[in-house]
Amino acid sequence: MTADLFDNIDAMVPAREQLAEGAMLLRGFARPQQHELLAAIDAITAQAPFRRMFTPGGHQMSVAMTNCGNLGWVTDRSGYRYDAIDPESGQLWPAMPALFRELAEHAAAEAGFGGFAPDACLINRYEPGAKMSLHQDRDERNMGAPIVSISLGLPAIFLFGGLKRSDKPQRYRLQHGDVVVWGGPARLAFHGVMPLADGEHGLIDRKRINLTFRRAR
Ligand code: SIN
Ligand code: FE2
Repeated sequence: MTADLFDNIDAMVPAREQLAEGAMLLRGFARPQQHELLAAIDAITAQAPFRRMFTPGGHQMSVAMTNCGNLGWVTDRSGYRYDAIDPESGQLWPAMPALFRELAEHAAAEAGFGGFAPDACLINRYEPGAKMSLHQDRDERNMGAPIVSISLGLPAIFLFGGLKRSDKPQRYRLQHGDVVVWGGPARLAFHGVMPLADGEHGLIDRKRINLTFRRAR
């Protein structure tokens, strides 16, 4: 093992890891912007607070969500959809900060997807015990664009599988600042998050925040 293979010598984890053809984990990629990201999330959630939505089947999700950008992902009894309006406030979702867009575009380019222009950013908040079952992101009209996912706060076990629900997912421990990008042949890969383990995080107490950028239209 030679030092130049690793950016993060302390943790001895490779700076980038290919999860599948078209899927890349960029370790610590968002860390330099951690403070600006968290401040922007606070400003967004002051306007559009986190809420636990209901699935079409009537189950309340354990993950609390909000959005920024031209479109926000919402779910309720009538189904899943992208909507320009926050149903809680009746107002447009808060604008996507330039920092978010640039970071997502930069991460996508690093993973081989140049020209990513997200129009939707879903913000997920996991408290201890919250989880996300294995699913595909398939509510977007534009499957040519990748998904970019930024993790902040407590570490989580991310499940990344194949194109069939029955494909056994691999497990990755996503830490504060890690970014995962998947697109092309991996765009419809099944993925999910194991129940969040309790813990302390110096910057964000006892939770994990995930930003998921998409081109919805
Ligand atoms: C998602 O699939 O929307 C969230 C993934 C994550 O929280 O890492
Ligand atoms: Fe997803």
